[in-house]
Amino acid sequence: MKDKLKEIEEAALLSATEVVTETELQQVRARYLGRKGEITAVMKGMGQLSPEERPLVGVLANEVKDRLEAAFSERQEALRQEIMQQNLANEKLDVTLPGRKQRRGYKHPITLVTEEIVTIFASLGFGVAEGPEIEKDFYNFEALNIPKDHPARDMQDTFYISEEVVLRTHTSPVQIRTMLEHAPPVRVIAPGTVYRRDSDITHSPMFHQVEGFLVDRKVTFGDLKGILTTFINEFFGESVDVRFRPSFFPFTEPSAEVDIQCVICGGSGCRVCGQSGWLEILGSGMIDPEVFKSVNYDPEVYSGFAFGMGIERIAMLKYGVNDLRLFFENDLRFLKQF
Ligand code: PHE
Repeated sequence: MKDKLKEIEEAALLSATEVVTETELQQVRARYLGRKGEITAVMKGMGQLSPEERPLVGVLANEVKDRLEAAFSERQEALRQEIMQQNLANEKLDVTLPGRKQRRGYKHPITLVTEEIVTIFASLGFGVAEGPEIEKDFYNFEALNIPKDHPARDMQDTFYISEEVVLRTHTSPVQIRTMLEHAPPVRVIAPGTVYRRDSDITHSPMFHQVEGFLVDRKVTFGDLKGILTTFINEFFGESVDVRFRPSFFPFTEPSAEVDIQCVICGGSGCRVCGQSGWLEILGSGMIDPEVFKSVNYDPEVYSGFAFGMGIERIAMLKYGVNDLRLFFENDLRFLKQF
């Protein structure tokens, strides 16, 4: 019996050293110490021994059982350590790797162009003003010398909210609001969103304009030309030719539209400029005395000029974008380029 126990112990210890996983170790443990295990079997068989032998073998079996118990626990701990070391070696974490970059947003090209225009005029002494996009008929039309029955209202397909309230069709109402609040001299630039019932490749029902105006004593058309030419050369470059062409607006007299040499073909004629070599970029003129009357400026003492330009159009020319809709589709592949 003694020898049998010794044999079992040796075999069990050997098996324990051979296993490589905890599951295998559990199987070995069950084989020797489980309810149907070999040691258990020995203990169950003790009934057949003589009364003198029984306690001796019992003590011995218990000692073997304790030693195996201890050996298995030890082996289990060793296996756990081994697996942990393996995991540590495999799942290496390189804390010196650079982090994943958080991509920053970009300013929209319309915002960039607006900021650039405002910066140039700020350097010429202009301050910035803003007005509401939902505007009273009075500011959008009436005070700008466009009475209700005036044919010029057809020029601007207006979104009416009610008889007296519109979505502003241009930034010119900011002229009226500013002049009603401030006595001359004034020198203001007013960027903002405007709305017209118009939608195709070159027109969007919502677009942006920058208004500018200057009122003081003895302001002449020469000042208008000087300021706008300076702006254009700053924005598009010194070498770009500028042309002033007679035009009409109800709120300016005389009025002029300003063309620049085509930035695409350099003036030789192409599809973008309709073979003319010129591109229209803004409307302007000397502020009409009728407008001064509606803001209580004395037209005998003060004179001034005003101009308004479409920002999308200027952005298209600056960046060589040929479809206006790209500005409003929010396609990141487009926006990322600016
Ligand atoms: N408000 C005019 C437009 O939207 C532009 C303009 C502004 C013309 C100021 C002259 C003076 O077409």
